[in-house]
Amino acid sequence: MSSAPIGVFDSGVGGLSILAGIHELMPTESLLYLADSAHAPYGPKGESYIRERCDGIMQFFLQHEVKAVVVACNTATAAAIAWMRDRYTLPIIGVEPAVKPAAELSAKGIVGVLATSGTLASDKYITLHKRFTHEVEIITRACPGLVELIEDPDPDEIAIRQLLTEFTEPMITKGADTLVLGCTHYSLITEVIQQVVGKEVRIVDSGKAVALQLQRKLPDALASGDESGIRFYSTGDITMQSRLLQRYWGQAIVVSKAEGI
Ligand code: DGL
Repeated sequence: MSSAPIGVFDSGVGGLSILAGIHELMPTESLLYLADSAHAPYGPKGESYIRERCDGIMQFFLQHEVKAVVVACNTATAAAIAWMRDRYTLPIIGVEPAVKPAAELSAKGIVGVLATSGTLASDKYITLHKRFTHEVEIITRACPGLVELIEDPDPDEIAIRQLLTEFTEPMITKGADTLVLGCTHYSLITEVIQQVVGKEVRIVDSGKAVALQLQRKLPDALASGDESGIRFYSTGDITMQSRLLQRYWGQAIVVSKAEGI
């Protein structure tokens, strides 16, 4: 059982930012990454659509006999994790915007949150947001179009910077000194975001927290052994996805088609 793989998925490449943290913390675990690229972005889609996607992805993972699943997507976590946990008994770990650490870190008590419209509109996020509004001022901003640009095989960096400026300028002007990346895609372009908001703004995401949570949930995880492999799958066009995943993963990888979902 403990040598079984761990399934990690996102609507596309975003979850690689979570996968990297897991691989670093648990290098002997074998990992199976699924990018649901044919159905990205999830952000503007409704809850029932995302739940249906998650259900198909769970079937895929169960066929591959995974021992745990990481929902490396804030939008899917918000829309579907409670629903998934009701249906499946294996450990399912999700990701949510790092509002708590940001509230603790902010010297001025003003925090900005960038996320998808789906995440920000969800009951799960609204509950999280309300828990901290007595401690800090939280300025949220949905980022339509940003995930599409990150998923573009030939990314337009000027367009990315323009969008980031549009989304972050109002919160920086209001004094936000801490910025939460509430979508796993945004973590892939942390350096560009840092350049846009300036180096005095602290950027936080949930990557490390998810890896630690996974480790806590798997007490029988492999403590030692050889470094294990990562298998990459996508529901999208394999040639294009190989290029894209490789760019953000930083090394050559083989991407297989996720059939039947
Ligand atoms: N990476 C995802 C998230 O963390 C989803 C982005 C999208 O597909 O819209 O929210």
